[in-house]
Amino acid sequence: MALNKRRFDALIIGAGGAGLNAAIQLAHSEARVAVVSKVFPTRSHTVAAQGGVNAALANVLPDSWHWHMFDTVKGSDYLGDQDAIEFMCREAIPTVYELEHNGVPFSRLDDGKIYQRAFGGQSQDFGGAQAARTCAAADRTGHAILHALYQQNVRARTHFFDEYFAIDLIRDDEGAILGALVLEIETGEPLLIEAKATVLATGGCGQVYRTTSNAHINTGDGNAMALRAGVPLMDMEFFQFHPTGIAGKGMLITEGVRGEGGYLINKDGERFMERYAPNAKDLASRDVVSRAIVTEVKEGRGVGPDADHVLLKVDHLGEEIVSKRLPGIRESGRIFAGVDAAQEPLPVFPTAHYVMGGIPTDPYGRVIVPQGTGEEVVPGLYAAGECACVSVHGANRLGGNSLLDILVFGRAAGLDVIENLTANKHHRPMNQTSVDAAMARLTRWDQTGHGISVNALRNEFRKTMEDHAGVFRTEEIMQEGVERLKALRAQLPEVRLTDHSKIFNTARVEALELENLVDTGVAIACSALRRQESRGAHSRPDHPQRDDVNWLKHSLYYREGDRMEYKPVRTKPLTVETFPPKERVY
Ligand code: FUM
Repeated sequence: MALNKRRFDALIIGAGGAGLNAAIQLAHSEARVAVVSKVFPTRSHTVAAQGGVNAALANVLPDSWHWHMFDTVKGSDYLGDQDAIEFMCREAIPTVYELEHNGVPFSRLDDGKIYQRAFGGQSQDFGGAQAARTCAAADRTGHAILHALYQQNVRARTHFFDEYFAIDLIRDDEGAILGALVLEIETGEPLLIEAKATVLATGGCGQVYRTTSNAHINTGDGNAMALRAGVPLMDMEFFQFHPTGIAGKGMLITEGVRGEGGYLINKDGERFMERYAPNAKDLASRDVVSRAIVTEVKEGRGVGPDADHVLLKVDHLGEEIVSKRLPGIRESGRIFAGVDAAQEPLPVFPTAHYVMGGIPTDPYGRVIVPQGTGEEVVPGLYAAGECACVSVHGANRLGGNSLLDILVFGRAAGLDVIENLTANKHHRPMNQTSVDAAMARLTRWDQTGHGISVNALRNEFRKTMEDHAGVFRTEEIMQEGVERLKALRAQLPEVRLTDHSKIFNTARVEALELENLVDTGVAIACSALRRQESRGAHSRPDHPQRDDVNWLKHSLYYREGDRMEYKPVRTKPLTVETFPPKERVY
């Protein structure tokens, strides 16, 4: 049977904030734009972002984009590229006003301005007093933004392929990307979408870990598609553990809780963050707070029958603040922990939250790969949002910079595609070999029978990641982890769907997702094993210091041969002086 085909100017894979903000630029420019999403767009994981989006609006306390830039560079443990960080922090201010004009219902101050709360790692005047930079719609900011962007796209007539799963990129012999093969989940029909430009905006990969704040859909699909197309992944060893996931479950309790005055206590009722971060305390950077919590538990000051978590005190804020500013976490606390946060403290422990690394791009979203002594753009391929690495987060992302990243760089990618389309008016010829390879990836799951189940391999893989690539990592732990993960990867050909599961296309999608998870997880583990220093979220008790002489560089992981390469950090900003590496204290 002939393969169904469609042609668009641009194909965007993923309908979270990055994908939708790229799409809206294209739709407004009259380009023919398709958005493929494996879930209904407003179920994309952006919907789960709680605390807010950073922009130096100075509505509550004095602020400047330059202070925001300083905090982001310091937060990144000096691994972020300073040109991209300057670009993002400057763009933050018009970006938030654009959201306001697009209908995002931000919370308001008494004077009608956008409400801003304090978040971790924020300072005034280059490391001075706490700043309040995070623009919030209660604790459902991502929900508000995603719905507004979706509605604007519907109005602009963006073409949505809802509940279609992207199987693989299609590329020609020169490595140019020609579009993607996708699967309509309801019917099981493959569809070839040809495009002059393809934007990967598939979000994160938190599902590689057993306990995560991420939705089930965050399986690293874009990362793995890039790897299979020969593109390396950058800085994958830097995985953020959010300090306050619901203990044992992982659902997010926003940092906004601590921004509103909540604080952490151990079994003795001690505010232990005072010992780890004497100035910033509970609003230290996330890597610092997560390590502190794990240390409290390891040293026997944890709470609960198994002494395996700490408590987040919120009840002292009072019913009114909790109901007005934090209604979502009150609901989550009730549902997932059986606790009313307005009455008693919430049990919390770090949860896998965000990958700082990803597909290497420039600030216009163009995917860049090393070539000879320099770099070159992969023709026709863009990436934006959590699946990309610009790099603005370096070794540790600041809370509130994720929504900002997806909006700023989603928009930048959309605008660059528009420019690109004026220069490249024609589709390149399709490459049948690449289409056949993508089809083989799908039809492999037509085989059913006895073998390892998707579920069994996935559970084992995610547990291994949790045990061997967590908050603290030593050579021994990671070496063992890499070996186990590779052994699990070697079992993939033995995985089978049962005859029964074959009748559900969702089972095929889960199998395809498992392959993506495995590729992405191995990238994280291999990159982590090689970096012999502690920097940001990559914390090695056997190499406890940051080593700028040997390791102030980005890592690049290639799937072929699990090979690693390195490239320099761009330390020169666009217009201001470089922030040189300093000891990072909070
Ligand atoms: O804590 C939070 O609300 C998460 C925000 C973020 O990851 O940026």
